[in-house]
Amino acid sequence: MPSRKPGDIYTFQQHLLDMQREHPTATGEFSWLLSGITLATKVISSYVRRAGLINVWGEAGENPDEQPVNIQGEVQQKLDVLANETLKRTLGYRGNVGIVASEEDNDPRVLQEVGRQGKYVVMFDPLDGSSNIDSNVSVGTIFTILARPEWERHTDHSVLQRGLQQLGAGYVVYGSSTVLVYTTGHAVHMYTLDPQYGAYLLTRENIKIPEYSPQYSVNEAYVETFPEPYQKYLQWAKNQNGEACSSRYIGSLVADFHRILLKGGIFLYPPTKKNPEGKLRLMYEANPLAFIADAAGGKATDGKGNILEIQPNNLHQRTPLIIGSKKNVEQVMKFVSEHETVAVKK
Ligand code: AHG
Ligand code: MN
Ligand code: MN
Repeated sequence: MPSRKPGDIYTFQQHLLDMQREHPTATGEFSWLLSGITLATKVISSYVRRAGLINVWGEAGENPDEQPVNIQGEVQQKLDVLANETLKRTLGYRGNVGIVASEEDNDPRVLQEVGRQGKYVVMFDPLDGSSNIDSNVSVGTIFTILARPEWERHTDHSVLQRGLQQLGAGYVVYGSSTVLVYTTGHAVHMYTLDPQYGAYLLTRENIKIPEYSPQYSVNEAYVETFPEPYQKYLQWAKNQNGEACSSRYIGSLVADFHRILLKGGIFLYPPTKKNPEGKLRLMYEANPLAFIADAAGGKATDGKGNILEIQPNNLHQRTPLIIGSKKNVEQVMKFVSEHETVAVKK
């Protein structure tokens, strides 16, 4: 890779090409697919930036008596629908995407039949944190790419792969600036969208999550309904050696995770009374972020084991998610395993 100096204009495309040159067997198809995703996120970013001006705030649907809900039973925002359509349209023209699956659609959609074409499966949460849009809070897009097994004719089976199988995963945060974070499982890099050039420029290379930070991110209003070990962990975290942790919770997973990736700490969404399986979706929220956390030296668990090892049985399945700095996650797991030991002794 050519040496670079601060201030050099080094784009995501250029970075991909340079990384590809280091792998002579790479065909370039993967980069072509990724450029479809980045194009979509530039379009979504422009909608988000102009949200108050172009009538895309609020819930989707014309009739206020009929709230449109997605498969999760959640009310769809106009921008959820626009972001979803944008991603499907850009990926539809790439030619090598076989299947797309989204939080906003009941079933995966086949774009290309099995064969040389349609080698990839792409899944996404088109707009994460969408209930925050109208109050100008950061939202994002989360995506993951899998290989579509050549022999597999069954669409669901092509999609239901463990997180460890991911070829690449990333997210875009539409925050104070628009940033893209991406990994193929080795190094994690960050690119910032320059609104003047319309290009993502490399702004941080080889990101590592700090090993520990005294900061947690959880919707503490639900604490009474968390399983006991999580309640105990939070009590303990508040008063370690007399020094309290600080708390940050945006309510957009992607924005909370991005802060943790850069500054360290932990995000927890344990099982609750309302969502006994956890609220977050395994395939297109937990898995891609766990893949990034893992590549950056962090950890992700569902409270039982590594998120990436879970064998999914449903595209929209939910999971508890505990993710972030290695030591913070290990501290939570200590509370969980101590609780299990006590339960077994009883
Ligand atoms: P989405 O907007 O894609 O449905 O995701 C919302 C998720 C996630 O972004 C966030 O961490 C979580 O919901 C917040 O849930 P609570 O409001 O229950 O804390
Ligand atoms: Mn989401
Ligand atoms: Mn969403």
